[in-house]
Amino acid sequence: MTILKGKVNYVGVNDRTKDLFESLWPLPYGVSYNSYLIDDDKVTLIDTVDVSFFPKFLKNIHEVIGDRPIDYLVINHMEPDHSGSISLIRKYYPNITIVGNKKTLEMVNGFYGEHTQTLAVSDGAELNIGHHKLRFYLTPMVHWPETMMTFDENDHILFSGDAFGCFGALNGAVVDKDMNIEHYWGEMIRYYSNIVGKYGSPVQKALAKLGGIDIEMICSTHGPVWTEYIPQVVAEYNRMSLYEGARGVVIAYGSMYGHAEEMAEAIAAELAAQGVKNIVMHNVARTDHSYILADIFRYKGLVLGCPTYNTQLFPEMDKLLKEIASREVKNRVTAYFGTFSWAGQVGKKMCEWNEKMKFTEVCTPVECKQGITPEVLENCSQLAKAVAAQL
Ligand code: FEO
Repeated sequence: MTILKGKVNYVGVNDRTKDLFESLWPLPYGVSYNSYLIDDDKVTLIDTVDVSFFPKFLKNIHEVIGDRPIDYLVINHMEPDHSGSISLIRKYYPNITIVGNKKTLEMVNGFYGEHTQTLAVSDGAELNIGHHKLRFYLTPMVHWPETMMTFDENDHILFSGDAFGCFGALNGAVVDKDMNIEHYWGEMIRYYSNIVGKYGSPVQKALAKLGGIDIEMICSTHGPVWTEYIPQVVAEYNRMSLYEGARGVVIAYGSMYGHAEEMAEAIAAELAAQGVKNIVMHNVARTDHSYILADIFRYKGLVLGCPTYNTQLFPEMDKLLKEIASREVKNRVTAYFGTFSWAGQVGKKMCEWNEKMKFTEVCTPVECKQGITPEVLENCSQLAKAVAAQL
């Protein structure tokens, strides 16, 4: 248990056992499920935790309020990593009132069969819990349709749900000013790009809605509580949700026998010669795609290359293209290269994909039939120059 400010306490838990978040995304540093307890006249819990951690969660709650009851459970987000303990909370606190918007309460019933003693709130509604007044802001699709944020108007604390969250368990400290946030920063970008990345437009709407609010503390559902880094965190969310990339290039390639990799290396070398300092190379068959996607959200340039495989794209590249498309990434400068033995398809397939993505495509795709030749390397060099010129 950690007191964040006055009557507001952190009662979340850390998960260092799960390998894959959502059964998809690696968790090298674990993950936290954050929950907050306001010990006001009406004791109010904000979100719950993954049900596997309920005993520890309950212990954290008891450390704050002992055997006293909880009056309200505010649900900002219904994904089960946060809502999973709703039924158990209600079992231990049978008189608790579940607070959520209309969509939330439908989901509370759908997931957990809980439909009594609920309080529906609309956008802008307030709830007075004693010294604190909570105001609710509906922020649909950040990350689910029911997502909302709760603002404590007394302490200027925003309980933001998934927004501004990141992977990484909390190692002792809870608040950013008390820890080294270095690895959380990369994990925030990876979290955003993989979990929330598709919803740039809803994130922009949420940022606009929150724009006039004086926020001194952001309490999200994952990762550190933000205080001194609030301007940077909000700016990063703004950048990512606008799909703006810094000057740099991600080269993602698949290579079966080294030819495509040699082309990737040649492109990288020329980019460096052109003064591009941020160059990230990923072998799509070796690097977990969550890291590739995070870098694609970082940088403006995107060079993709692979062999033709069964007249299609190399399978891991095909998968990556679908992952980029499903996040509706925008505003990238892109170029393609491919290898083949008798029937090349990479350039054609990549260009077809780009008809949907509408990235700025520079240079004709460079194709290499069988072995690498000086002409292929020269074409790679020209491709790199064309990309560098557009960054
Ligand atoms: Fe952490 Fe969308 O749940």
